[in-house]
Amino acid sequence: MAAARARVVHLLRLLQRAACQCPSHSHTYSQAPGPSPSGKTTDYAFEMAVSTIRYGAGVTKEVGMDLQNMGAKNVCLMTDKNLSHLPPVQTVMDSLVKNGINFKVYDHVRVEPTDTSFMEAIEFAKKGAFDAFLAVGGGSTIDTCKAANLYSSSPDSDFLDYVNAPIGKGKPVTVPLKPLIAVPTTSGTGSETTGVAIFDYEHLKVKTGIASRAIKPTLGLIDPLHTLHMPGRVVANSGFDVLCHALESYTALPYHMRSPCPSSPITRPAYQGSNPISDIWAVHALRIVAKYLKRAVRNPDDLEARSNMHLASAFAGIGFGNAGVHLCHGMSYPISGLVKTYKAKDYDMDHPLVPHGLSVVLTSPAVFTFTSQMFPERHLEVAEILGADTRTARRPDAGPVLADTLRKFLFDLDVDDGLAAIGYSKADIPELVKGTLPQERVTKLAPRPQSEEDLSALFEASMKLY
Ligand SMILES: NC(=O)c1ccc[n+]([C@@H]2O[C@H](COP(=O)([O-])OP(=O)(O)OC[C@H]3O[C@@H](n4cnc5c(N)ncnc54)[C@H](O)[C@@H]3O)[C@@H](O)[C@H]2O)c1
Ligand SMILES: [Zn+2]
Repeated sequence: MAAARARVVHLLRLLQRAACQCPSHSHTYSQAPGPSPSGKTTDYAFEMAVSTIRYGAGVTKEVGMDLQNMGAKNVCLMTDKNLSHLPPVQTVMDSLVKNGINFKVYDHVRVEPTDTSFMEAIEFAKKGAFDAFLAVGGGSTIDTCKAANLYSSSPDSDFLDYVNAPIGKGKPVTVPLKPLIAVPTTSGTGSETTGVAIFDYEHLKVKTGIASRAIKPTLGLIDPLHTLHMPGRVVANSGFDVLCHALESYTALPYHMRSPCPSSPITRPAYQGSNPISDIWAVHALRIVAKYLKRAVRNPDDLEARSNMHLASAFAGIGFGNAGVHLCHGMSYPISGLVKTYKAKDYDMDHPLVPHGLSVVLTSPAVFTFTSQMFPERHLEVAEILGADTRTARRPDAGPVLADTLRKFLFDLDVDDGLAAIGYSKADIPELVKGTLPQERVTKLAPRPQSEEDLSALFEASMKLY
């Protein structure tokens, strides 16, 4: 308890420093603590890490063979309660039975997981002594399974050891993990491709996570047939996550402007800044969102649209999993963490919940108006992909043009009218800002540094959208 209190005090000190934008405290362009091998203070290299992925309608039936080929004898199958009764999980279990794979089911995954729900899953994994993991579900399930794999492979570690700094210690993962197969059932997080696991740290009421290439799934089985079971709002909200992954990674600070330069490759962060390879995945994902998201939301039988969105989720995951995201995500973590009574339509939940995709997209018009000063050409380019006529637009118009395009896109998809519509008021802004400050892993990747006042203004501008 005393150790936890000491960490909170330490964190509050860091928050105070993060709020200051003077050169000695600014994290965005801060100097490296020590010399790097290259002698540079900003990075000079980037690395692409991605899970092996296999795509195809019906490909889930191969999962039992995959586990057999891996020599798995005792598999942990994780999912959430709602999905445990639906065809994606049934199809997976049929394949396991057919191929003689011994498995145990853990269906207590919490939708929008917390440290407590992660720990329950970790306990299950530790007791089961499993030799492989299988996650069937959305980001909540895949992330929970990554954490269960990590901590059961490193049983003596404290939970905060691998959690992102400054909330956790952000230690690099050096232990070997068990194989993990992810079968995504939403078209959103791209978690099947990334080394990221996100949870709500209840103590501080903010989301944070674990980010290490070591926890990325061994294999992602992307089967578009699962998307036919998704309710409309799950399609919409997880689609907004794809939209923001693409927009944020494409407009993130370039990798060669990020500091410090790591002193060893193992400390190069998973989120490295925009880079030429991530850019390709981000732009391609965005084109698919522009073409298919509305169709996928409106027509549950539109297999072409839903299949394309399923692929777009992985494309954006490959991009942002290496480039990172920035302000929409950084600001979303307190928006979901501080939820009061909001219950999202189509989510069968007993607790209040702001779905992740909704929490990121509500600030997007304000955020991109703010960041457009830095790379206006990129902001105009993405606005054009999303349908704006940019032929006569000038560089200073980039922010308003993109913001208007996003507002129209959200309006067409019946998105709640801003933060006020999901239960927040002006009085909540100081808490929302406080919850954003520790998200420096992502906020420092924004192309434009932000002061506490900037963040307040962004939350205020996001109270109402239309
Ligand atoms: N690891 C990453 O890289 C990453 C990236 C972005 C977000 N996230 C995290 O992922 C979580 C959100 O995940 P999500 O948006 O994929 O949704 P989710 O896993 O939270 O699931 C949302 C709801 O949809 C239901 N559902 C899922 N698939 C379904 C299907 N095919 N048919 C019917 N119902 C279905 C679930 O049962 C649940 O009720 C958040 O915690 C977020 O922070 C992780
Ligand atoms: Zn996201």
